[in-house]
Amino acid sequence: MNQIGIIGLAVMGRSLALNMADHGYKVAGYNRSYEVTKQMVEKNPHENFIPYETLEEFVKSLEKPRKVMLMVKAGKAVDAVIEQLLPLLENGDIIMDGGNSFFEDTIRREAYVKRQGLHYFGIGISGGEEGARKGPSIMPGGDCEAYEEIRSILENIAAKSEDGTPCCTYIGENGAGHYVKMVHNGIEYADMQLIAEAYLVLKHIGKFNNQEIGKIFEEYQKGELSSFLIRITSEIFQEMDDMSTQSLVDMIKDSAQQKGTGRWTNMEALKQGIDVSMIAAAGNARLMSNKETRKTAEEHYPRIKIAKIPNHETLIEDVRKSLYAAKIIAYAQGFDLLKQASTAYDWNLPLGKIASIFRAGCIIQAKFLNDITRAYEHEKNLSHLLLDEVFEKRVISYENALRQIAAQAMLSGIPVPAMANAISYLDLFTKNHVGANLIQAQRDYFGAHTFERIDKDGSFHHEWGK
Ligand code: 6PG
Repeated sequence: MNQIGIIGLAVMGRSLALNMADHGYKVAGYNRSYEVTKQMVEKNPHENFIPYETLEEFVKSLEKPRKVMLMVKAGKAVDAVIEQLLPLLENGDIIMDGGNSFFEDTIRREAYVKRQGLHYFGIGISGGEEGARKGPSIMPGGDCEAYEEIRSILENIAAKSEDGTPCCTYIGENGAGHYVKMVHNGIEYADMQLIAEAYLVLKHIGKFNNQEIGKIFEEYQKGELSSFLIRITSEIFQEMDDMSTQSLVDMIKDSAQQKGTGRWTNMEALKQGIDVSMIAAAGNARLMSNKETRKTAEEHYPRIKIAKIPNHETLIEDVRKSLYAAKIIAYAQGFDLLKQASTAYDWNLPLGKIASIFRAGCIIQAKFLNDITRAYEHEKNLSHLLLDEVFEKRVISYENALRQIAAQAMLSGIPVPAMANAISYLDLFTKNHVGANLIQAQRDYFGAHTFERIDKDGSFHHEWGK
């Protein structure tokens, strides 16, 4: 009998199936179009992977309670497959959705499947194709008791952090796993945008060429910035185009796409009343990069002089410090949203453990996640990452560099929305006076919305200008 079944054998499903097979699990595979299944088996035959042409045979081959992982496109396809599966499964069987599903869909599906006497898990999986094949970071959400049935398999196939712990932990009930994956992706957007801004500064102010920028990122990778995204960035800048004599990065159209998880994070943050301005800035930067009018507008607006080339070593070091300080703020925003969601959805999210499973396998894996893990493990009720002593010290010591770099970029007409938002966020977070007294006065002036006073309890209204 097969121990687990995977439905959907496109890149992610196929890689995950082979990862499980490598770990000695007998895996059944099914894809809507059998052609895809056949191609997979031809290309990657594996003694532990057994393909099936029909869903009935696939389900029959599974040991009970049956464990079926859906690796199909998020959205309607997930509902459709659930409907096909339900008549074939029985009480106690487990359906897992390993795609990037919207967490509200997962909450709905979990309740629906549970009513039929089965278990449902929404599982965030990060790490792209390579992660899925060799060890991703896994964020399972669903029925806590049923989790024991799938725990060992997920932990075995997950990435392992440096200390050997699997990058997989039970996240919480119903949609918690997909929620955490969504916020992971939001942070991913901010992180990528920050790196893109560092690139613009190094290129336009530092006048470094791509090879040099690649080397600079390679150096960054050796220190506290060490992360998957910095590593691939250093490689990207050193890659030549095989269709021309240029660096490949220069031949790529300057307009970024997105599938939706970043946008969901922003919508959800607005709903929860949490400021994730860097994630919003990153999403907006992608949107703006698609504006067709950008080229024409550049011709219409007078060219702003780029700041004088500063001392190269100082620039490289200040960009590094800026990236690091701003990165801390981006993660602090993401974790602030998770903290709020934990209460709002009654999930009791293990923030320290979540940081720990981001340490390897996923796209935002980074050395400094060890520190985020420590921060939340040291103080379970930490109200905000920027209030952790260690991060506080780091931000304070790098803050000036971040301000310098962002200011130079802005004076030179280089867009740095993520860095700029990092600074504004920090200022809103740390300053005692943010101007809200005036906002309240205005609200009371035109709408009698009342205000609170600093010297007396209660709410007050004033007849302004009379
Ligand atoms: C991951 C990635 C993965 C994927 C996103 C990117 O964690 O493995 O986040 O989920 O790359 O789909 O999203 P965009 O297409 O929106 O950039």
